[in-house]
Amino acid sequence: MDAVSAEGVRVIAIDGPAGSGKSTVARRLAERLGLEYLDTGAMYRSVAFAAMAREVDLADSEAVVELARTSDIRVEDTSVIVDGVDATTQIRGPEVTRSVSTVAAISGVREMLRVRQRAWVMERGGGVLEGRDIGTVVFPDADLKVYLSASAHVRAARRAGEVSALDYETVAADLAARDAADSSRQHDPLAQAPDAVHIDTTDLSVDEVVDDLIARLG
Ligand code: CDP
Repeated sequence: MDAVSAEGVRVIAIDGPAGSGKSTVARRLAERLGLEYLDTGAMYRSVAFAAMAREVDLADSEAVVELARTSDIRVEDTSVIVDGVDATTQIRGPEVTRSVSTVAAISGVREMLRVRQRAWVMERGGGVLEGRDIGTVVFPDADLKVYLSASAHVRAARRAGEVSALDYETVAADLAARDAADSSRQHDPLAQAPDAVHIDTTDLSVDEVVDDLIARLG
Protein backbone atom coordinates (compact mmCIF):
# COMPACT_ATOMS: atom_id res chain seq x y z
CA MET A 1 0.00 0.00 0.00
CA ASP A 2 1.14 3.51 -0.69
CA ALA A 3 2.00 5.80 2.20
CA VAL A 4 -0.91 8.05 1.37
CA SER A 5 -3.80 8.76 3.68
CA ALA A 6 -7.01 8.11 1.78
CA GLU A 7 -9.65 10.78 1.49
CA GLY A 8 -11.63 11.32 4.67
CA VAL A 9 -8.99 9.63 6.79
CA ARG A 10 -7.71 11.77 9.62
CA VAL A 11 -4.19 10.85 10.70
CA ILE A 12 -2.10 12.54 13.35
CA ALA A 13 1.56 11.53 13.53
CA ILE A 14 3.53 12.10 16.72
CA ASP A 15 7.25 11.30 16.77
CA GLY A 16 10.09 11.92 19.16
CA PRO A 17 12.63 10.27 21.43
CA ALA A 18 11.83 8.27 24.59
CA GLY A 19 10.41 10.31 27.44
CA SER A 20 9.47 13.26 25.20
CA GLY A 21 5.81 12.84 26.19
CA LYS A 22 4.58 11.10 23.02
CA SER A 23 2.44 8.41 24.62
CA THR A 24 0.67 10.65 27.12
CA VAL A 25 0.09 13.41 24.58
CA ALA A 26 -1.04 10.97 21.84
CA ARG A 27 -3.45 9.20 24.19
CA ARG A 28 -5.03 12.42 25.47
CA LEU A 29 -5.21 14.01 22.03
CA ALA A 30 -6.93 10.90 20.66
CA GLU A 31 -9.47 11.03 23.51
CA ARG A 32 -10.19 14.70 22.87
CA LEU A 33 -10.64 14.09 19.12
CA GLY A 34 -12.64 10.88 19.48
CA LEU A 35 -9.97 8.94 17.57
CA GLU A 36 -8.17 5.74 18.45
CA TYR A 37 -4.52 5.74 19.43
CA LEU A 38 -1.70 3.41 18.37
CA ASP A 39 1.60 3.05 20.21
CA THR A 40 3.84 1.75 17.39
CA GLY A 41 6.77 1.36 19.80
CA ALA A 42 4.72 -1.35 21.52
CA MET A 43 4.71 -3.23 18.20
CA TYR A 44 8.52 -3.13 17.94
CA ARG A 45 8.71 -4.12 21.60
CA SER A 46 6.34 -7.03 20.88
CA VAL A 47 8.66 -8.39 18.18
CA ALA A 48 11.60 -8.12 20.62
CA PHE A 49 9.46 -9.94 23.19
CA ALA A 50 8.55 -12.70 20.70
CA ALA A 51 12.25 -13.16 19.87
CA MET A 52 13.05 -13.45 23.56
CA ALA A 53 10.19 -15.89 24.21
CA ARG A 54 11.22 -18.09 21.27
CA GLU A 55 14.94 -17.71 21.90
CA VAL A 56 15.54 -16.28 18.44
CA ASP A 57 19.02 -14.80 18.03
CA LEU A 58 18.68 -11.10 17.15
CA ALA A 59 21.69 -11.41 14.85
CA ASP A 60 19.58 -13.71 12.68
CA SER A 61 17.64 -10.93 10.94
CA GLU A 62 15.72 -13.28 8.68
CA ALA A 63 14.33 -15.14 11.66
CA VAL A 64 13.38 -11.86 13.35
CA VAL A 65 11.63 -10.62 10.20
CA GLU A 66 9.72 -13.90 10.10
CA LEU A 67 8.56 -13.24 13.67
CA ALA A 68 7.43 -9.73 12.66
CA ARG A 69 5.52 -11.26 9.76
CA THR A 70 3.81 -14.11 11.60
CA SER A 71 3.40 -13.10 15.26
CA ASP A 72 -0.08 -12.28 16.41
CA ILE A 73 0.47 -8.83 17.95
CA ARG A 74 -2.48 -7.11 19.60
CA VAL A 75 -1.72 -3.64 20.86
CA GLU A 76 -4.81 -2.52 22.76
CA ASP A 77 -5.32 0.57 24.88
CA THR A 78 -4.17 -0.96 28.16
CA SER A 79 -2.74 -4.35 27.17
CA VAL A 80 -0.42 -5.96 24.66
CA ILE A 81 -0.97 -9.60 23.74
CA VAL A 82 1.68 -11.43 21.71
CA ASP A 83 0.77 -14.86 20.33
CA GLY A 84 -1.89 -15.19 23.01
CA VAL A 85 0.48 -14.29 25.88
CA ASP A 86 -0.11 -11.15 27.95
CA ALA A 87 3.15 -9.24 27.40
CA THR A 88 1.94 -5.89 28.78
CA THR A 89 4.50 -5.76 31.60
CA GLN A 90 7.37 -7.58 29.95
CA ILE A 91 7.49 -5.42 26.83
CA ARG A 92 8.40 -2.48 29.14
CA GLY A 93 10.98 -4.52 31.09
CA PRO A 94 14.75 -3.95 30.88
CA GLU A 95 15.45 -6.96 28.65
CA VAL A 96 13.08 -5.88 25.87
CA THR A 97 14.04 -2.22 26.31
CA ARG A 98 17.71 -3.08 25.72
CA SER A 99 17.06 -5.23 22.65
CA VAL A 100 14.28 -3.28 20.91
CA SER A 101 16.55 -0.88 19.01
CA THR A 102 18.37 -3.85 17.45
CA VAL A 103 15.06 -5.30 16.31
CA ALA A 104 13.88 -1.90 15.03
CA ALA A 105 17.04 -1.45 12.94
CA ILE A 106 16.12 -4.45 10.73
CA SER A 107 14.51 -3.08 7.56
CA GLY A 108 12.34 -6.18 6.98
CA VAL A 109 10.87 -5.82 10.46
CA ARG A 110 10.04 -2.18 9.76
CA GLU A 111 8.41 -3.12 6.48
CA MET A 112 6.17 -5.72 8.16
CA LEU A 113 5.12 -3.40 10.96
CA ARG A 114 4.55 -0.49 8.58
CA VAL A 115 2.03 -2.59 6.65
CA ARG A 116 0.23 -3.40 9.90
CA GLN A 117 0.25 0.26 11.01
CA ARG A 118 -1.28 1.46 7.73
CA ALA A 119 -3.88 -1.31 7.84
CA TRP A 120 -4.75 -0.31 11.43
CA VAL A 121 -5.47 3.25 10.26
CA MET A 122 -7.47 2.20 7.22
CA GLU A 123 -9.65 -0.14 9.32
CA ARG A 124 -10.53 2.75 11.64
CA GLY A 125 -10.67 5.57 9.13
CA GLY A 126 -7.90 7.44 10.96
CA GLY A 127 -6.14 7.66 14.29
CA VAL A 128 -3.35 9.14 16.35
CA LEU A 129 -0.10 7.21 15.92
CA GLU A 130 3.08 7.73 17.87
CA GLY A 131 6.58 6.44 17.18
CA ARG A 132 9.84 7.40 15.54
CA ASP A 133 9.02 7.42 11.80
CA ILE A 134 5.29 8.06 11.58
CA GLY A 135 5.51 11.54 10.03
CA THR A 136 8.60 10.77 7.95
CA VAL A 137 7.79 7.32 6.54
CA VAL A 138 4.55 5.66 7.64
CA PHE A 139 2.19 8.61 7.05
CA PRO A 140 4.13 11.42 5.36
CA ASP A 141 0.77 12.92 4.32
CA ALA A 142 -0.65 12.96 7.86
CA ASP A 143 -3.07 15.81 8.61
CA LEU A 144 -0.85 16.96 11.46
CA LYS A 145 2.74 15.97 12.15
CA VAL A 146 4.26 16.63 15.53
CA TYR A 147 7.80 16.18 16.77
CA LEU A 148 8.12 16.24 20.54
CA SER A 149 11.39 16.72 22.35
CA ALA A 150 12.54 17.50 25.89
CA SER A 151 15.88 17.87 27.62
CA ALA A 152 17.78 14.62 28.21
CA HIS A 153 17.58 15.21 31.96
CA VAL A 154 13.79 15.66 32.01
CA ARG A 155 13.23 12.67 29.72
CA ALA A 156 15.29 10.38 31.93
CA ALA A 157 13.64 11.73 35.10
CA ARG A 158 10.16 11.09 33.62
CA ARG A 159 11.09 7.56 32.64
CA ALA A 160 12.79 6.79 35.98
CA GLY A 161 9.57 7.95 37.68
CA GLU A 162 7.53 5.50 35.58
CA VAL A 163 9.84 2.53 36.07
CA SER A 164 10.37 2.62 39.84
CA ALA A 165 12.65 -0.44 39.86
CA LEU A 166 15.40 1.44 37.99
CA ASP A 167 17.50 4.32 39.25
CA TYR A 168 17.96 7.58 37.37
CA GLU A 169 21.55 6.88 36.24
CA THR A 170 20.65 3.51 34.69
CA VAL A 171 17.61 4.95 32.91
CA ALA A 172 19.59 7.96 31.62
CA ALA A 173 22.33 5.70 30.21
CA ASP A 174 19.79 3.37 28.57
CA LEU A 175 17.92 6.30 27.02
CA ALA A 176 21.10 7.86 25.65
CA ALA A 177 22.14 4.54 24.08
CA ARG A 178 18.69 4.00 22.56
CA ASP A 179 18.49 7.59 21.23
CA ALA A 180 21.89 7.16 19.57
CA ALA A 181 20.89 3.82 17.99
CA ASP A 182 17.46 5.08 16.84
CA SER A 183 18.84 8.31 15.36
CA SER A 184 21.81 6.80 13.56
CA ARG A 185 20.31 3.62 12.08
CA GLN A 186 20.23 3.26 8.30
CA HIS A 187 16.50 2.59 7.88
CA ASP A 188 13.88 5.16 8.94
CA PRO A 189 15.93 6.77 11.70
CA LEU A 190 14.30 8.96 14.33
CA ALA A 191 14.03 12.35 12.64
CA GLN A 192 11.80 15.39 12.54
CA ALA A 193 9.81 15.68 9.30
CA PRO A 194 10.50 19.08 7.69
CA ASP A 195 6.81 20.02 7.96
CA ALA A 196 6.32 18.75 11.52
CA VAL A 197 5.39 21.08 14.37
CA HIS A 198 8.22 20.92 16.90
CA ILE A 199 7.27 21.25 20.54
CA ASP A 200 9.82 21.13 23.35
CA THR A 201 7.83 19.68 26.27
CA THR A 202 10.55 20.24 28.90
CA ASP A 203 8.56 22.92 30.75
CA LEU A 204 5.05 22.19 29.45
CA SER A 205 2.19 20.19 30.96
CA VAL A 206 0.45 17.51 28.90
CA ASP A 207 -2.66 19.68 28.65
CA GLU A 208 -0.66 22.66 27.39
CA VAL A 209 0.76 20.53 24.57
CA VAL A 210 -2.60 18.96 23.71
CA ASP A 211 -4.38 22.36 23.71
CA ASP A 212 -1.71 23.72 21.37
CA LEU A 213 -2.18 20.78 18.95
CA ILE A 214 -5.97 21.05 18.98
CA ALA A 215 -5.69 24.76 18.17
CA ARG A 216 -3.47 23.92 15.20
CA LEU A 217 -6.01 21.43 13.87
CA GLY A 218 -8.53 24.26 13.75
O1 CDP B 1 8.29 4.41 25.12
P1 CDP B 1 9.61 4.74 24.53
O2 CDP B 1 9.61 6.08 23.88
O3 CDP B 1 10.73 4.47 25.45
O4 CDP B 1 9.89 3.75 23.35
P2 CDP B 1 8.81 3.12 22.40
O5 CDP B 1 7.98 4.18 21.75
O6 CDP B 1 8.12 2.05 23.15
O7 CDP B 1 9.73 2.49 21.25
C1 CDP B 1 10.64 1.46 21.55
C2 CDP B 1 11.65 1.38 20.42
O8 CDP B 1 10.99 0.95 19.23
C3 CDP B 1 12.37 2.66 20.04
O9 CDP B 1 13.51 2.89 20.85
C4 CDP B 1 12.74 2.39 18.57
O10 CDP B 1 13.91 1.62 18.48
C5 CDP B 1 11.58 1.53 18.09
N1 CDP B 1 10.56 2.26 17.32
C6 CDP B 1 10.81 2.52 15.98
O11 CDP B 1 11.90 2.23 15.50
N2 CDP B 1 9.85 3.08 15.19
C7 CDP B 1 8.66 3.42 15.71
N3 CDP B 1 7.74 3.97 14.91
C8 CDP B 1 8.40 3.20 17.08
C9 CDP B 1 9.37 2.63 17.87
